[in-house]
Amino acid sequence: MNLLAGLEEIVKENEPLAKHTWFRLGGPARYMVRPRNKAELLDVVRRCHENEVDIYVLGRGSNILVADEGLDAVVVQMYYKNFGQVSIDKETGTVIAEAGVSLSQFVRRCAGEGLSGTECLIGIPGTIGGAVKLNAGGRFGDIGNVTESVKVIDSSGYEFTRSRDEIYFGYRMTNIIAKFIIEAEFSLVPDDPDRISRLLKEVWMLKKNSQPMNSRSAGCVFKNPRALSAGALIDKVGLKGHNIGGAFISEKHANFIEAREGATSSDVLQLIDLIRQRIQDRFEVDLELEINLWKQ
Ligand code: EPU
Repeated sequence: MNLLAGLEEIVKENEPLAKHTWFRLGGPARYMVRPRNKAELLDVVRRCHENEVDIYVLGRGSNILVADEGLDAVVVQMYYKNFGQVSIDKETGTVIAEAGVSLSQFVRRCAGEGLSGTECLIGIPGTIGGAVKLNAGGRFGDIGNVTESVKVIDSSGYEFTRSRDEIYFGYRMTNIIAKFIIEAEFSLVPDDPDRISRLLKEVWMLKKNSQPMNSRSAGCVFKNPRALSAGALIDKVGLKGHNIGGAFISEKHANFIEAREGATSSDVLQLIDLIRQRIQDRFEVDLELEINLWKQ
């Protein structure tokens, strides 16, 4: 392990990524690293840069599908125990959160402090880093609405801050190309805690009633095509409940694939291909993946 020599305390070799994803699928990473601080992160990033080794950034693994073959690369996890600080200024509504903070805990914490603006994010898993990079959200809004600035590190180890007016927050995407989000600053609005709590309940209930919350999945598999719903299209072609091996199209929401006993990433990928084909044949619509596919 020449590449990461001296960093043995934070590196695991051939670490099964299935352990670290919500799908609980996928092969091993050649190296998995959990830097304990920014200095260690920079050290890893620079070594990989010098040796032209690919880095994949992992948060809580809630939006990724890792191929069964695994990755001959370095996976760096922005772990909540190492990048999990939150600081809150109740007066101004400014909240700063590090990349590894769990999004759901962040939402509850802000609500508990009487700060409004993140209620639309309840029920979305993942970390602050992943949520900001992909502009997590749903029908009621997205994280971009409340993001003021983002501190990042690029793949050569250069650290800088992007302010709100430099960031484009699109539909499940941003123009942030830097590999690592270190922390983000949010601007929230003080509000009545009871009102915030009611709103949280409302959004939560809507999700709970329409999405399979307790199954092994990675959320919605496809982006909604312009003015259409991917879930409704998949439902219309009668694919709800359809399976390949251990991968099943959810009965509750057709844009979710659930991994059940014995599932492999290959099952999920084949099911994805089948869905795409059916939707193309019937509606002439190309469904675009919403989940990230980690495949070499
Ligand atoms: N529908 C069906 N059949 C289904 C699923 C949905 O007919 O199997 C219909 C619904 O009845 C509704 C329409 O399709 O009329 C839209 O469905 P829904 O309200 O469930 O929302 P969605 O567009 O499927 C989006 C996001 C979700 C987010 C919800 C709620 C995408 C791809 N999905 O879902 O995000 O939670 O709105 O805000 O943008 C995710 O990003 O992983 C995700 C789940």
